[in-house]
Amino acid sequence: MILSDVKRLVYDYTRVRTISARGPGYSALSHYRFFRHIMASLASAVGKQPRRCLIVGVYFGRDIMMMADVLAREFPALATTVHIVGVDKFEDAPCDDWPEEARRLSWAEAGFGAAPSLEQTQRIIQPHFDYPQVELIRSRAEDYLESAPSAEFDWIYIDTAHDYESTCRIMRLAMPALKKNGILSGDDYSNAGTWGVQRAVQEVCPDHFVWDNWIWYSRVPQCP
Ligand SMILES: C[S@@+](CC[C@H](N)C(=O)[O-])C[C@H]1O[C@@H](n2cnc3c(N)ncnc32)[C@H](O)[C@@H]1O
Repeated sequence: MILSDVKRLVYDYTRVRTISARGPGYSALSHYRFFRHIMASLASAVGKQPRRCLIVGVYFGRDIMMMADVLAREFPALATTVHIVGVDKFEDAPCDDWPEEARRLSWAEAGFGAAPSLEQTQRIIQPHFDYPQVELIRSRAEDYLESAPSAEFDWIYIDTAHDYESTCRIMRLAMPALKKNGILSGDDYSNAGTWGVQRAVQEVCPDHFVWDNWIWYSRVPQCP
């Protein structure tokens, strides 16, 4: 590793620590570096039209804060034109990948801590950046995507429930909402336990890449 790589790694690690201290979340260094990779690709795309990004599965907003941090520090011109839409069900009710025995429990009872709320997530993320514009929406990802205009987004990031059925369903609904050659991606590329993200992505989007063995992404050439 050369010196500039080491400096970059230390810098990234420091940013991730700072962002992680603001609220709960699961994302870490890999995610921060992945978001930079995507932002670089959005910044280099031909054309100057505003970029629209969608993240489904917001929790307390850590990924959105990472995206905003990368944009504000490294792509300031892009930051002023990007619009990020964050969709989450924001409810204290089970998710589709919870084990059967937890299906009647609240988040706290199931051992997942407090359920995310839109208001609290807004309070966590708001003080930290002016740009990009972020819009949080309380909805099931499926409902939001079913009524989203077609060819609306340059990038969609899926981080909702990680069971096979939900992932297939949400991926299929997301595809028409992407612009031509838009990027479809998501977290937790694994089939462990109740998860089936890897299997779903291999079936629905066989032509994909995997970042750090954990985050999948693919360009969707044409709306199906
Ligand atoms: C793993 S967390 C997301 C972590 C988040 N990306 C972050 O930055 O920390 C999963 C989130 O997906 C939400 N969720 C689960 N199923 C959903 C669905 N069908 N529609 C919308 N949100 C959903 C949950 O409420 C939870 O906040």
